[in-house]
Amino acid sequence: MTPEPLLVLEGVGLTLPSTAGPVEILRSVDLTVQLGEIVAVTGPSGSGKSSLIAVAAGLEQPTRGSVRLFGRDVGALNEDGRARLRRGRASLVFQSFHLLPNMTAEENVAAPLEIAGHAEAMDIARLWLERVGLSARGHHYPHQLSGGEQQRVALARALAARPALLFADEPTGNLDAANAAAVADLMFDLIAETGAALVLVTHDASLAARAGRQARMDGGRLSA
Ligand SMILES: Nc1ncnc2c1ncn2[C@@H]1O[C@H](COP(=O)(O)OP(=O)(O)O)[C@@H](O)[C@H]1O
Ligand SMILES: [Mg+2]
Repeated sequence: MTPEPLLVLEGVGLTLPSTAGPVEILRSVDLTVQLGEIVAVTGPSGSGKSSLIAVAAGLEQPTRGSVRLFGRDVGALNEDGRARLRRGRASLVFQSFHLLPNMTAEENVAAPLEIAGHAEAMDIARLWLERVGLSARGHHYPHQLSGGEQQRVALARALAARPALLFADEPTGNLDAANAAAVADLMFDLIAETGAALVLVTHDASLAARAGRQARMDGGRLSA
């Protein structure tokens, strides 16, 4: 028996109001992500890639169509329910790192583990910081870290709970070439190690080429 896909989008549309009238941001998007699969999404700026991630991860509700995440209809859940559905199973990494500025690297990695009720959250956080090469930086605050280091902390935070699915929205987009390559290698290593599925939005064709499957977003439409 084929296991149920982690994520299924069917006919997903997203229309948002603007001063110039409603804007169609996603148009009839279909996407299925299976266990352990790596899918890259490329496409021009403004084509709807971040909106796709927001809807697929249940951060935002679609206007039309359906999103099934871990077998649950996201449309039937409120914001709390969607957060609970993600907890420990789906994580996000963004272009701009999104670390909490008043927490140390260690505390940033431990925070979601604590919310999920892990007794050993700080110990697990330390192990993950070691895994991303930052054991010496555990007590540093985000502003004391370089962009590449901050993104490694964000990767550790995203994967520490061993989620089945990682959404990464241009994770190397704010990094110089050397740091981008190092973060990308680390991300692919960790994904391989944990067996997590990955939905990777990227402008970088060489990064997209490392995915098992590529899809392209253009004007809110996704094509294989
Ligand atoms: N909250 C919003 N309200 C209205 N329009 C939005 C909103 N968020 C994004 N958009 C518009 O939707 C389109 C797609 O944006 P986005 O998903 O961020 O694209 P990408 O990530 O591919 O650059 C853009 O034209 C953007 O201006
Ligand atoms: Mg974007």
